[in-house]
Amino acid sequence: MAVIALCSAQGSPGVTTTAVGLALAWPRPVLLVEADPTGASGVLTGWFKGARDYEAGLIELAFTAEPVADLLPRVAVPLDEADPEARARFVAGPRSHVQARGLSDLWSPLAGALAGLDETGQDVLVDAGRLGAPGAPDPLLAGADLTSLVLRGHLPAVAGARAWAELVRRDRLWANPGLLVVGPGDPYGPREVSRVLGLPVLATLPDDPGGAAVYHRGAAPPRRFETSGYRRGLTAAADVLLAAVARGRGQAPSVKGPVVAALLERAALLRGGGRADDGADPSRPDENEEARA
Ligand SMILES: Nc1ncnc2c1ncn2[C@@H]1O[C@H](COP(=O)(O)OP(=O)(O)OP(=O)(O)O)[C@@H](O)[C@H]1O
Ligand SMILES: [Mg+2]
Repeated sequence: MAVIALCSAQGSPGVTTTAVGLALAWPRPVLLVEADPTGASGVLTGWFKGARDYEAGLIELAFTAEPVADLLPRVAVPLDEADPEARARFVAGPRSHVQARGLSDLWSPLAGALAGLDETGQDVLVDAGRLGAPGAPDPLLAGADLTSLVLRGHLPAVAGARAWAELVRRDRLWANPGLLVVGPGDPYGPREVSRVLGLPVLATLPDDPGGAAVYHRGAAPPRRFETSGYRRGLTAAADVLLAAVARGRGQAPSVKGPVVAALLERAALLRGGGRADDGADPSRPDENEEARA
């Protein structure tokens, strides 16, 4: 059983859409936790099309006197209301960034509670939003069995992820880090993204705006959606992520210290004109011919 966290470094590469799509394609019971501190629950307004009111979620977990693990199952709702078995369940995040400020003390106990779901045979997918956002759920990222940066395969995405990837590697922020590339080959393929960022590309998903709209905003599925490359990509990605967890089990991060401080320090350095200084430079694609070949 696994806790898998997804996050982004730059832009909106499709973390929420991918998390919803993966949860619905997951081969085992799974809990999708919306831990994006920017708020405005993208799943309730998107996948659920605003038809499901917020009833309970992370806010209730943050302010309960009960142990988080006890209340957690009661704030989860079926992700697919048409699935009688409710194999995928969903915990709603904060509805605004203001609410999210109240969650900072929740992340560590929640990380423990999610890890404890192991015993129940339930996997967990965490939508952790964007790295470095105020109130970011760093303990969930650090405590997950697998933490994947989601990014596009273009230059701004790869360049934007580079400093974070360096930090993740240098400080071993995450137990088992990797990358999930949405729309690979535009122009960077998985090998090149992996080489530049120094992290393994665990999975890729095709660029499929019509398919993604199903999970992003509850759009009607396009024709042959179930057998589309996008759907098959999600199923394959679920298997690959689970296999990566199995391989990485037992490798705890060596540093679980002041993650936020380190991230902010690094971000401030970069804003001040600092630049990543090792590995290939994604802003110089001509230097990367070999990997593209
Ligand atoms: N595989 C894909 N192919 C094409 N478009 C996609 C794909 N995945 C997501 N998208 C689209 O990307 C846009 C952003 O998606 P989403 O909101 O999931 O991103 P995010 O990373 O969660 O953003 P944010 O940081 O704002 O939370 C949406 O229009 C969505 O439909
Ligand atoms: Mg999102």
